[in-house]
Order: sequence, then structure tokens, then C-alpha cells
Amino acid sequence: MAIVCKSTAEIEKMRHSGHIVRQVLDHVRGLVAPGVSTMDLERAAEKKIKELGAKPAFKGYYDYPCVLCTSVNEEIVHGIPSEKRVLKEGDIVSIDSGVVLDGYYGDSAITVPVGSGLKPELQKLLEVTEASLYRGIEQARIGNSVEDIGAAVQEHVEAAGFSVVREFVGHGIGTRLHEEPQVPNFGSRGHGARLREGMVLAIEPMVNYGKPETRVLGDKWTAVTADGSFSAHFEHCVAVTKDGPVILTQ
Ligand code: MF3
Ligand code: CO
Repeated sequence: MAIVCKSTAEIEKMRHSGHIVRQVLDHVRGLVAPGVSTMDLERAAEKKIKELGAKPAFKGYYDYPCVLCTSVNEEIVHGIPSEKRVLKEGDIVSIDSGVVLDGYYGDSAITVPVGSGLKPELQKLLEVTEASLYRGIEQARIGNSVEDIGAAVQEHVEAAGFSVVREFVGHGIGTRLHEEPQVPNFGSRGHGARLREGMVLAIEPMVNYGKPETRVLGDKWTAVTADGSFSAHFEHCVAVTKDGPVILTQ
């Protein structure tokens, strides 16, 4: 499947879906606190998506059961919300949300601390992961290569002593949640597909405090770090335009 470039009008539509995802994440982030379950977050997100007139993108995608992915501590991505997973002081939770509006998808993720007792080293993990996302976004320019994005993310993460996940990657996005090309969070500058005007990429670094290896739990979804170290995840959808990278999920 070839990489689909979007017209200005399509990018405008994706800005609307992106804006809805942002509002959902802002709302849910405000609810994160000790004693709240990840299913509480799921219910709040589902209600908000409906209120805003969009449809959830993840629920039913390859039979994924929920509108959010909520990945706590050593969970990297694709954690399934559960009544039994009650957040506690000192945890970190990654919240990943996707919606579709008028045929166009939006996808974004944040990782937030639970309560106020975040350990300084985890504070650093969150800061470095979010900053690495912006390093990657900065490379989403006409004429650059896909791996310029990954290389920028990887350099920033590894300079801080953390590691990037290899088994899960970012992706093109548009009239489908996952389009070409894959957008790894590692790579060599100048390698991979050339970026052209109108491409829209979901850039999503997943950063482990310890080693990069992953495994998937028995629920067939939840990806965790093999060494049990904590992991953070931030994601934005970004359009490649004549004026440089434009973040659609804000
Ligand atoms: N943002 C993630 C991704 O792009 C979550 C979607 S996976 C789903 O892969 F299956 F839960 F939808
Ligand atoms: Co994504």
C-alpha cells in the first residue's frame, strides 16, 4: 500500500479529529488520581468522545475492547482499562486515545503521574520521552527521510540513558488509523521513505527506563518491558507541510 498524501482540506479535517482527541486527553488527565481505576478513565473518555460528536477509533479495531489504552508503570502500550486496576500514588499512566470524525482519524497519547509523589528519575523519564517526541516532530519536513525522525528520537533518549522500544512504531494516519509508512523511534539519518507534502504521521516514542526488550501479556494486548522497568509514551499526529511540521493533535 502506497503512502497517501493529504490535501489541505483533508488536513483541515484531521485537525478537527486531532482537536477532539486533545480535548478527550485533557479531560481524562484531569481525572487521574490515586484511587481512580483505569476503567473510570475509560468511561469518562467514552462519554467525552460521544459528547464531542466523534467515534472511538480503537474499540473494535482487531477486537480491541475499549476506547482508550491505559498502560501503567512497566506497561508500555495497549494496556486494557480495568475496574481492578486502581491507580496509586507514584504510578505513571500512559493514556492513548484515537477518534474518527467525518472519516478522518486522530491519535494521541500522554503519560501522566498519579498523585504528587513522582520519583525524580520517573519525572526525568516523562520529560525525556516528551522532549524526544518534539525532536522527532522537528524532523517531519519535506525532503527528509522517515528515519530522520527515529534517529532524532533515539539520540535524545539514549543520551539520557533510557532506551527506545523497537517492536512498536508510529505510523501514517488518515482515512485509516494505521497507514504507511511505519515510523520507528530509531534509525539512521537519510534512510527510509522520503517525506512529501501532505503526509500525516503519528509519531509515538515509547521509552523504557531500563532495557528496550518487550513482551506481551496473556491478554494478547498489554505490552510490558521485559525487565519490569517503567515505560513512557507520548504521541502526536503531524502533517508534513510547506510551512514545516504541523501538529494536528493540539
Ligand atoms: N495509538 C496506538 C496505535 O497507534 C493504539 C491503537 S491500538 C488499538 O497503535 F488496537 F488499541 F487500537
Ligand atoms: Co498511534
